[in-house]
Amino acid sequence: MNATARGLFVVFEGLDGSGKTTQLERLAARLEAAGHAVTRTREPYDCEAGRRIRAMAQSGEAVSAEQELAWFWEQREEHVREVIEPALADGRIVLCDRYYLSTVAYQGARGLDAGRLLADSEAAFPLPDLVLWLDLPVTEGLTRVDDRGGPAEPVFEDAERLEAARGVYASLTMSYLARVDAAGDPDEVAKRIADALRERLGLVV
Ligand code: TYD
Repeated sequence: MNATARGLFVVFEGLDGSGKTTQLERLAARLEAAGHAVTRTREPYDCEAGRRIRAMAQSGEAVSAEQELAWFWEQREEHVREVIEPALADGRIVLCDRYYLSTVAYQGARGLDAGRLLADSEAAFPLPDLVLWLDLPVTEGLTRVDDRGGPAEPVFEDAERLEAARGVYASLTMSYLARVDAAGDPDEVAKRIADALRERLGLVV
């Protein structure tokens, strides 16, 4: 009996307003139309720790960076165990909206050691096959967020903090990271994403 080949793990990263959610959905639809089995998922994962994070963000009352890190770590362990690993073991393409590079960028922007967060994350969690970093200037992302009714979670959406988070993303050099210019209309961005998938994974969409 043949073991099922492991699936592909593709992560979307970027600041709020960078278009991750839209582009993830578009890509999922195209992959499914081409006959692939796709799992769409996102962090914060909907589990107890994830709900604590959402409640904190919506209350507007920040907690310490260390507490935030502990909660994001906890929800990720559960997310990997319950969703990501089983789907990959099943040979599916997993499209994930945010993963550990969000912790590196956002909790790094809060003053935690980004290098350490990255090393610890890579040691603890499955590595993605590809991370699509949708890069957009902070002001443009904030304008898009305002256009869709303002920040849902202002705790995370302070311009200075976002600038720092973008700086962390920009400093990353691992081979599985692809920077995608997220400016311009969604069709153009989708084409850049398709190019990255073809070049990096040999996957034609
Ligand atoms: P997200 O669901 O992408 O925001 P929204 O629902 O408003 O589109 O993520 C919520 C916020 O959590 C986002 O601003 C980034 C932040 N975040 C971290 O700070 N660290 C993390 O590890 C993750 C996954 C998200």
